[in-house]
Amino acid sequence: MLELDAISTRYGVVNILNKVSLEVPQGEVVCLLGPNGAGKTTTFKAIAGLLPLQHGRISIFGKNLADSRTEALAGMGVGFVPEGRRLFPELSVRENLQVGYDALRPNERFEQALERVVELFPRVGERLAQAAGTLSGGEQAMVALGRVLIGQPRLVIMDEPTLGLSPKLIEEYFVTVERIHKEGITVLLIEQNAEAALSIAHRGYLLLKGQIVASGGAQELLGNDVIKHLYL
Ligand SMILES: Nc1ncnc2c1ncn2[C@@H]1O[C@H](COP(=O)(O)OP(=O)(O)OP(=O)(O)O)[C@@H](O)[C@H]1O
Ligand SMILES: [Mg+2]
Repeated sequence: MLELDAISTRYGVVNILNKVSLEVPQGEVVCLLGPNGAGKTTTFKAIAGLLPLQHGRISIFGKNLADSRTEALAGMGVGFVPEGRRLFPELSVRENLQVGYDALRPNERFEQALERVVELFPRVGERLAQAAGTLSGGEQAMVALGRVLIGQPRLVIMDEPTLGLSPKLIEEYFVTVERIHKEGITVLLIEQNAEAALSIAHRGYLLLKGQIVASGGAQELLGNDVIKHLYL
């Protein structure tokens, strides 16, 4: 469904990603782990078509990314939950969700789509009129995911969605990720919470200094010495 084949990128003259390959098969939850500065967000941006590739190729749904424009990705069913959530703080929760929806489905019924998000996140439903900037971190994380889910994506790519959340909220967030996966959405989860991420993922990759240094099934990675050393 999503495949990175030996991609390399750089900022100026500095190489950031060095021949990163990874695969997200349809129907799976795949996590990309790595410490601060490893290149996780750079990978996210490359998939979003925001960074030119020096080498390698990215394909989504079997189509080479170079052949499809960035804006087209959302229309193809790829949802991006960016690092830091990036809500419009002055807009209400409802308006934030509507922005995500209108871009994709201008002629369909927003209220019906909104109902599905509220069912998944009842707390969001209670705060539709509140300015998004005044929500708690956990609530903002829900809205950021809801804004993507409302467009009915097939593949969702999340960049550290649980950053700054309490352990309890992190657990709740991962329960939600499992739930949307069960409803048929494929997920690439970029995370630093290795244990929590691997507990719901089928497989994972570890990125260190721009290179994939370990990959495998989730159980296998939980036993990996580098991951144990870094996270567990
Ligand atoms: N616009 C930029 N110009 C120059 N260097 C950059 C730029 N953006 C990121 N970098 C560098 O690229 C490297 C990887 O950054 P990246 O944001 O991908 O890391 P990350 O794994 O997402 O880290 P974190 O967990 O802190 O979010 C870092 O050394 C960073 O300083
Ligand atoms: Mg990052």
